[in-house]
Amino acid sequence: MATPEEKLSFAAAPGSVRERLLAIREEVEKKIGTYESSKSLYEFRKVILDNRKGRIAELMQIIREVPKEDRPAVGKFINELKEWATVRFQETDERIRKQELLKKNAAEDIDVTLPAEETKFAALHPDTLVINELIDVFAGMGFEIYEGREIENDYYNFTALNTPKDHPARDMQDTFYLSEEFLLRTQTSAGQIHVMEAKKPPIKVLSPGKVFRSDDDATHSPMFTQMEGLVVDRGISVCDLQGMLDTFSEKIFGKGVKTRLRPSYFPFTEPSVEVDVSCFACGGKGCKLCKGTGWIEVLGAGIVNRHVLENCGIDPEEYSGFAFGMGVERIAMLKYGINNIKALFESDTRFASQFRD
Ligand code: DAH
Repeated sequence: MATPEEKLSFAAAPGSVRERLLAIREEVEKKIGTYESSKSLYEFRKVILDNRKGRIAELMQIIREVPKEDRPAVGKFINELKEWATVRFQETDERIRKQELLKKNAAEDIDVTLPAEETKFAALHPDTLVINELIDVFAGMGFEIYEGREIENDYYNFTALNTPKDHPARDMQDTFYLSEEFLLRTQTSAGQIHVMEAKKPPIKVLSPGKVFRSDDDATHSPMFTQMEGLVVDRGISVCDLQGMLDTFSEKIFGKGVKTRLRPSYFPFTEPSVEVDVSCFACGGKGCKLCKGTGWIEVLGAGIVNRHVLENCGIDPEEYSGFAFGMGVERIAMLKYGINNIKALFESDTRFASQFRD
């Protein structure tokens, strides 16, 4: 079969027709190689080959100006040009599409030898680790969780806890008052009252939560976390408290850690105690952590004051209970050797990432 080039015999066409045929051919030849996208080539193809408005279609108009006898020959020349141009566009289009595909593939190429980006794992905050651990230990002893409220009224935070207005013990906690009546709770002990109002004994509740005091140094923060415990039932005594504390200390600080109770004062417990654990760093010999004493103070506790039970409608002749409260940050600082409480509130991920379980 003849190639379009060979078939292109319109050089023999009559004068003006030939010039126009040649002009179109030249234009196609000149420009067709300059297109790099199939889309722009398609636009150019329309200029030349569009059935109605294309240059070749326009040529068909001149047939009318040609003498009748020459018309079949001129028609043939134009058709030859059309065929030639169609093939040229088709070939060029195929070539461009191939290149486009190659480019696309190259752009989408994945370099499997690139080292993968390191996956960063989040870590739980030391407070959360301690809270989870405490919940685990106490849930194992049958405690339920109660989460109180951060905004309390004076009654729950103080008065019902046997600390009426003007009681000197209110000075133990620098309170953020929101109004005469409302304040940011200074202690999770406020939750004891809510629990005892809502539930009759037996009660065995653990209550974690944020508390607030106007206090700020290396070991105190205006916002910190406490873990409160409350047990009320018939015949509860200091022995039950001591037994529970022994289990707690061994599980949280390690085997062989002992507890010691020292007399203390809290308005809502009578008697009240401070609880020390034997130093888990030196085994009680005396070191920097325990300041040479062999003991570390970890929480306050006591037998629930009968007035507190009465305030909640529980008969102190029938029931008794013990309560305890500890600072979660203090436990975290002791356990993880953190010496400034601020580190726990600075949201520095380099610090936080060191406490992976
Ligand atoms: N609420 C006390 C405080 O914030 C801690 C505390 C001591 C809680 C003795 C208790 C308790 O339940 O019995 O300092």
